[in-house]
Amino acid sequence: MRDVAVIGIGMTKFGELWERSYRDLFVEAAKGAMKDSGVDNLDSMYIGCMSGGLFVGQEHIGSLLADYLGVTPIPAIRVESACASGGAAFRTAWIEVASGLSDIVLAGGVEKMTDVDGGLATYALATAADAEYEGFHGATFPGLYAMLAHAHMHKYGTTSEMMAHVAVKNHDNGSLNPNAQFPIKLTVEGVLNSTMVADPLHILDCSPVTDGAAAVILAPLELAKSMGLPIIKVLSVGMATDTLALHSRKEITHLASVATATKRALDLAGMTIGDMDFAEVHDCFTIAEICVLEAMGVYEPGQAGPASMAGETARDGKFPVNPSGGLKSKGHPVGATGIAQIVEIVKQLRGTAENGRQLAKANRAIAQNMGGSGGSSVVTILEKG
Ligand code: COA
Repeated sequence: MRDVAVIGIGMTKFGELWERSYRDLFVEAAKGAMKDSGVDNLDSMYIGCMSGGLFVGQEHIGSLLADYLGVTPIPAIRVESACASGGAAFRTAWIEVASGLSDIVLAGGVEKMTDVDGGLATYALATAADAEYEGFHGATFPGLYAMLAHAHMHKYGTTSEMMAHVAVKNHDNGSLNPNAQFPIKLTVEGVLNSTMVADPLHILDCSPVTDGAAAVILAPLELAKSMGLPIIKVLSVGMATDTLALHSRKEITHLASVATATKRALDLAGMTIGDMDFAEVHDCFTIAEICVLEAMGVYEPGQAGPASMAGETARDGKFPVNPSGGLKSKGHPVGATGIAQIVEIVKQLRGTAENGRQLAKANRAIAQNMGGSGGSSVVTILEKG
């Protein structure tokens, strides 16, 4: 396998972007990444998109976006793994460059979720749960994560206040991110008093419904060096799957796909979680960040809530988590999220995170992107060259 680098990044603002079309969002992010890397041509591209069909009535996305980006006839493929579609697209692009088959490959992600009403958006998202055993019975993702939260509270004594601290911390970071959908600061009281969506999750415990796109360019490390670009190495990518249905798992508070994907990525890089300076993780709900940090081995089971409350995951804490603002504040255009996590890590490793969001120590970091309630997970490790 060849060593691979990320040589360019681009993303749109995330939010409710009525005036922008699906294809325009992707083209803006992709052109941004190409300009950033100085490349005019691509060998191929992979696009994470969870549900073009349900959100914007569009399938056959690879060819459509290659056309509007002006790069036909290159191979262009849509990659789907629910909310981990972006991470899965990145993994596929990385494999193609590492294999030696292609040199310049774009990994992107796009979703336009606000053109449909809230009910249809909730339905479209819920198709990533087990349709027969969860979706048909009315389960939605806020509902499924609420069950997970109750189980975690029962088993470990996790509290709503601990979860609220996750939201406050991520919005504090997102308030400094010019691309964030909700760059607003929150208070713990504000989160606890916000509308209840699915007990115990309030609206401010939930990531929003979002339009947006993100893209990165991958190239062989040696080529990147010869181009004189800032070197951000892809040390490894790990992916794992698990049952879609929560009830099929031995222990629903343990996200096994996250644990396995993390182990695969760390083993391939020859590292431990303690070698990482910070993380971007999949906080689709505040309880998700807590469960993910425990599954990744950053904290023992039951310890991520108290650690969040103690400020350990803040920008100036022991292990900063989601300096971008996370899905919670930055927004969660599902297919684009995994790529937007890579964009933030590259900014931090380059030392170019905006508005005082830059972390003091940013040499190596880990991104964790999750499909549904943990049915799939992709974990990527990047390092400053
Ligand atoms: N965080 C912060 N503010 C939010 C928000 C969020 N997650 N969602 C909505 N808001 C704001 C809106 O901007 C709006 O503010 P305004 O009245 O000042 O304009 C207000 O709260 C109400 O918004 P609305 O769009 O009517 O909310 P909704 O009830 O339709 O949707 C959720 C709220 C939480 C149900 C929806 O955002 C959701 O389903 N989130 C989860 C998405 C998801 O499951 N993703 C996949 C994860 S696996």
